[in-house]
Amino acid sequence: MAKLLVFIAWIAACASQEAGDTEPDHFYRALAAGPVKKGPVVTTQAACLGSGTSKALVNCCSAKRSCASKGLTGGRLYTCAAANSCKATTFTGETVKAYCAVKDACKSAVFNLGASAKCAAEKSCYFASFIGKGKMACNVAGHCEGATFYNGWDITCTTRRACQNVNIGPGSSAICSVAAACPVEMYIWGSTSLIKCSGNRSCKGTDFTANQGANIACIGKESCKNGSVGCAFVQFSCSKVPTNTVCAGANSCDGVKFYGKHTTATCKKAGVCNGATFVDGACCKGKGCPKGAKKC
Ligand SMILES: *[C@@H]1O[C@H](CO)[C@@H](O)[C@H](O)[C@H]1NC(C)=O
Ligand SMILES: *[C@@H]1O[C@H](CO)[C@@H](O)[C@H](O)[C@H]1NC(C)=O
Repeated sequence: MAKLLVFIAWIAACASQEAGDTEPDHFYRALAAGPVKKGPVVTTQAACLGSGTSKALVNCCSAKRSCASKGLTGGRLYTCAAANSCKATTFTGETVKAYCAVKDACKSAVFNLGASAKCAAEKSCYFASFIGKGKMACNVAGHCEGATFYNGWDITCTTRRACQNVNIGPGSSAICSVAAACPVEMYIWGSTSLIKCSGNRSCKGTDFTANQGANIACIGKESCKNGSVGCAFVQFSCSKVPTNTVCAGANSCDGVKFYGKHTTATCKKAGVCNGATFVDGACCKGKGCPKGAKKC
C-alpha cells in the first residue's frame, strides 16, 4: 500500500511538473486524477483490449501481473508501472498511449501506426520502437534513451542527454537543440531521415552510425565537434547510398572522423571542418574541406 501511495504521489508530481509539455492534457489528467479504480484482474490479451474500440494488442497483462491494478484506466491509456511490465508489448493505433513509468517499463515495446508513449523515467523506453506518424518531446535526461523512431516520427531533444543513443529511421527526424542533447551514439538510416544538431555543442563527441542515405545537419556552434560519422557493421551491411553530413555552424565538424566509402560531408564554409579527417573512402565537398581530404 505504501508503495502504491508513493507511486500515486509521484505520478501527480510528475503531471504538474510537466504541465507545459506538448502531450495532450487529458493524458496527464487521467494520471493526476488520483487513485485509479481497481479494475478486474486481466488475464488475457482480449480482455486487455478494453471496450473493443481500441486497436491495441497489449500483452502486458498476465495472471500474475494485472494491468488494471497498475492504473490501466480504460481502452486506450496503458500504464506500465513496473520494470518489464510492458516488455515487448505491441501497441497499435494513434489513439493508444502507454505511460512508461519506470526503467525498463516499456523495454522493447513496439508502438505501431502512431501509438505513442510517455517515456517517464530513465531508460523507460529502452529498445522500444516507434513506427508511424507522431511527435515526441524528449525533454528529460535519459527518458528516450535507446528508443528507435521511424516512418514518420519527429522528436525534439531539448535537454542534456534527452536523446542519448536514440535511433532515427526513414521519414523521421530528431532535433537536438541544446548542448549534449544527443550525446554518445546515434544510429540513423534512410534518405528521408534527419538528425539536426541545431544547438551549440548539441551533438559534440557523438558517434553517428549513418547508413542508407542518412542526413545529419550540424548547425550549432561546435555542434558535432570531435565525433564520428560512418558505417561499419560486422553483422549488417552498409548500403551504397551515400549519406551526407552538412557542417554549417562555426567549428561544427572540427575534429570529426568521417569514414567509409559511402560517407560524404559538406563543409559549407571555412572554419567548419578544421582538423576533420576523411578515411576509408569518405569524401568532402564545399569550401571548408580540410587539406588533403578526398574530394567528392
Ligand atoms: C551559440 O553560439 C553562438 C556563437 O558563440 C552564440 O552567438 C549564440 O548565442 C549561442 N546560442 C545559444 C543558444 O547559446
Ligand atoms: C578535438 O578535435 C580537435 C581538432 O579540431 C583536436 O585538436 C582535439 O585534440 C580534439 N579533442 C579531443 C578531446 O579529441
